[in-house]
Amino acid sequence: MPTLVVDNHPFQVRADQNALEACLSLKFDLPYFCWHPALGSVGACRQCAVKQFKDEKDTKGKLVMACMTAVSDGMRISIADADARRFRASVIEGLMENHPHDCPVCDEGGECHLQDMTVMTGHDYRRYRFPKRTFRNQDLGPFLNHEMNRCIQCYRCVRFYREYAGGTDFNVFKLRDITYFGRQQDGVLENEFAGNLVEVCPTGVFTDKTLKRHYTRKWDLTMAPSVCVHCSLGCNTTPGARYGKLRRIVNRYNGAVNGYFLCDRGRYGYEFVNSARRIARPLLRGDGSERAVSRDEALERASHLLAESRNAIGIGSPRASLEANFALRAVVGADHFHMGMNDADAALAGLMLDVLRAGPASSPSLREVEQFDAVFIVGEDVLNTAPRLGLSLRQSSRRQPMQRLKALKIPLWQDHAVREAVQADHGPFFIAATNATGLDDLATSVYRAAPADIARLALAVAHHVDASAAAVDGLSGDADTLARSCATALATAERPLIVSGAGCRDAGVIRAAAAVAGALCATGRPAGLFFALPECNTVGTLLLGGRPLGEALDATARPDLVIVLENDLYRRASAANVDALLASAAHVIVLDSLETATSARAHVVLPAGTFAESDGTMVNNEGRAQRFFQVLPPQTRSEIQESWRWLALLRAATHRNGDAWESLDDVLLAMGRAIPALAPAVQAAPLSTYRLEGARVPREPQRYSGRTSMLANIDVSEPRPPEDVDAPLSFTMEGATRQPPSALIPFFWSPGWNSIQAVNQYQTEIAAALEGGDPGVTLIHANGSAAGEGPRRAEIPAAFAVRPGEWLVVPLHHVFGSDELSHAAPAVAELAPAPYVALNAQEANSLGVRDGDAIDVTLDGTVRQLPLRIAPGLPAGVAGVPVGLAGMPAMTLPAWSRLVKHA
Ligand code: SF4
Ligand code: SF4
Ligand code: FES
Repeated sequence: MPTLVVDNHPFQVRADQNALEACLSLKFDLPYFCWHPALGSVGACRQCAVKQFKDEKDTKGKLVMACMTAVSDGMRISIADADARRFRASVIEGLMENHPHDCPVCDEGGECHLQDMTVMTGHDYRRYRFPKRTFRNQDLGPFLNHEMNRCIQCYRCVRFYREYAGGTDFNVFKLRDITYFGRQQDGVLENEFAGNLVEVCPTGVFTDKTLKRHYTRKWDLTMAPSVCVHCSLGCNTTPGARYGKLRRIVNRYNGAVNGYFLCDRGRYGYEFVNSARRIARPLLRGDGSERAVSRDEALERASHLLAESRNAIGIGSPRASLEANFALRAVVGADHFHMGMNDADAALAGLMLDVLRAGPASSPSLREVEQFDAVFIVGEDVLNTAPRLGLSLRQSSRRQPMQRLKALKIPLWQDHAVREAVQADHGPFFIAATNATGLDDLATSVYRAAPADIARLALAVAHHVDASAAAVDGLSGDADTLARSCATALATAERPLIVSGAGCRDAGVIRAAAAVAGALCATGRPAGLFFALPECNTVGTLLLGGRPLGEALDATARPDLVIVLENDLYRRASAANVDALLASAAHVIVLDSLETATSARAHVVLPAGTFAESDGTMVNNEGRAQRFFQVLPPQTRSEIQESWRWLALLRAATHRNGDAWESLDDVLLAMGRAIPALAPAVQAAPLSTYRLEGARVPREPQRYSGRTSMLANIDVSEPRPPEDVDAPLSFTMEGATRQPPSALIPFFWSPGWNSIQAVNQYQTEIAAALEGGDPGVTLIHANGSAAGEGPRRAEIPAAFAVRPGEWLVVPLHHVFGSDELSHAAPAVAELAPAPYVALNAQEANSLGVRDGDAIDVTLDGTVRQLPLRIAPGLPAGVAGVPVGLAGMPAMTLPAWSRLVKHA
């Protein structure tokens, strides 16, 4: 390791970094703007100037930009040098000339990198006395405010949006001395990651519009470590609450998972927590009446029903925590516990879990995905089913062209030089999908086909990689050429990655993806296999196990009591089947946070905490168990409580012999004893008894204000803060001052670092793991038992054949709309499409319909009238309908349907 001397102190540093990264890794305060740990250096802002000296005798030195200077052994720099300090102060003075200095009314204030750097640099007096440049701002849609007057022209936004995230509708526009960052005209930013601009922009140009609707100063937020609930990837988040309302979500850095970025569904879907559809009070229904009751009365009624029942069943949920599912299983007994996925979804998810467990390909983390240099996506519309994966794949598409950097001696952090060298080149990137996808611009080749043909193409690739895998007969010449070139690219890559998932709802597609990964492994390539699963805790629910939902829906089952946990069964199965189950049971108990069609049928409704009002564990798509913690303190006037706690109380009331579960720890430990595969989940975070410096970790920053006045309308004496028996975190600003273990970090803050960039102070090195290791514990380990077997076992499906007068209807997914919970957030709902049926233009012509015309679609024996949307990407004989949207019932897809122009 080279020795870097900073202000006469020697340090061992990593060789492949620049001096700014080295200094920040050593926790020096060195200001910067245009450099970003994920975006690299462009040397645009000149804010990171340091003095570099030739050797010990050199007293004059020269000013260099730390972000543009590679570290070398014996290199000597000074941050404290007077010239360097003056230079940095003069740079910021220039940047601030046109800045409106509107910190008191700026949404960024108190959490602003520009404020921090201004203070760090020592610029404290404004000499500029002339009119400031002003701009017209744009309406950029429901997620982001735009206030261009605050811009300091660091170019981070446009680099992130266009170069890192692949967006095209945002740019920098220049006229004389005017530099404008925005769209050509007002309009919703199209990229799925646009919301990251609120963190990427070092000042208040882009701020969170959803927060503005219920604004609070950032230092007044109560925060806790949390995990996104809107897809299976388990991105780490930091939600913030005030006055009993969830106010926003920001990224929580996890070096192995989401790194610095979230998708907009994850960032802006949080407002379902504040929805008017929230169930706030327990309800008792019967004889046509409905009564809001107290917790105790509801619990008494539920306990009575359970005690009286002779045949109770529980239906769990892949959107509920492990603990809640386990508690329901304990209440009804393992034999009466049903997984809350429909049988088809459970079978697909189970298949993916089996494949990952069997190996030989391992499941990479999101950050590892960025290191793969050849990608084959088999049937998954990633940006709509597992959005954050799309951002990682975009980075991996540059891996192979970046290999030329070595010969050119360009370090990876030299972003501008890297992009000059790479230009628009992409490594091998193949996409086989039923429809156009948002990653098609990266693709070496795109193959659009029905699921069966996607599987056949993938199996042909497997055969061309490993001749011992069965050959696919009858492939068209074009498809075979594509399969060969894909196979060659994957087999010659250093690290090939296969991506698939449940998006197509087709087991053949999943098996074929596994076959390609298996073939690569069998021939010695260290292939990765990444599956996108449907929901935030699908894997956890599978590991917990349970009976198929179909058994519960079977007309012969006839339970007398059905307990449904955080699950709208009408989204899982046909209305007729769910109606029959709920009608046949004498009583139905539903625990949920939002009113749903299922909760409307319940005799007892128990208001459940959302992720923001609960603690628990979820297992993401790669099998990583991650803990989330309560953000909102239990509301003294609300009857909401965590699902697992309702169920623990129900269990205590009806299972007199069992040990009582007093806290989340008790449930977790009991779960580990009952289900050994889940035992390691207890290590996902310290237990509630953990103390740091003898104290709890505060959820509120030291600058938190108003805690007495907030409740003065109730009591002028400051009430005792709520005690948290489930976590080693407190609902106060007092407590441990040292950095907590990574799983317990409620917010990133360090003296002088008030913006999200304070994360630098928590990492072992810039962009590396958090101190003490990234949070989470992996529960799935490929055992390699099936090495080489995958390709031989996969069945080759028959080729897709177009049927006259019928179309194969496939599911289409939408980043905004397909997820149940985020759809209840107004900003997300604004961008969700209305239900439709999609066909390509030729098929529409053949049917005599045009865009917007009503079409009768027959699915599951029901005729639905849907407007046509032309989707040029759909193949012949294939139609698509969006899944998960409000107003779209559960449907068995893919399925053949007659489509008829509505008379
Ligand atoms: S809008 Fe923000 S990120 Fe973009 S150039 Fe201006 S200050 Fe930098
Ligand atoms: S990718 Fe998934 S887990 Fe990550 S922020 Fe988006 S919705 Fe949440
Ligand atoms: S951070 Fe180094 S020049 Fe901008």
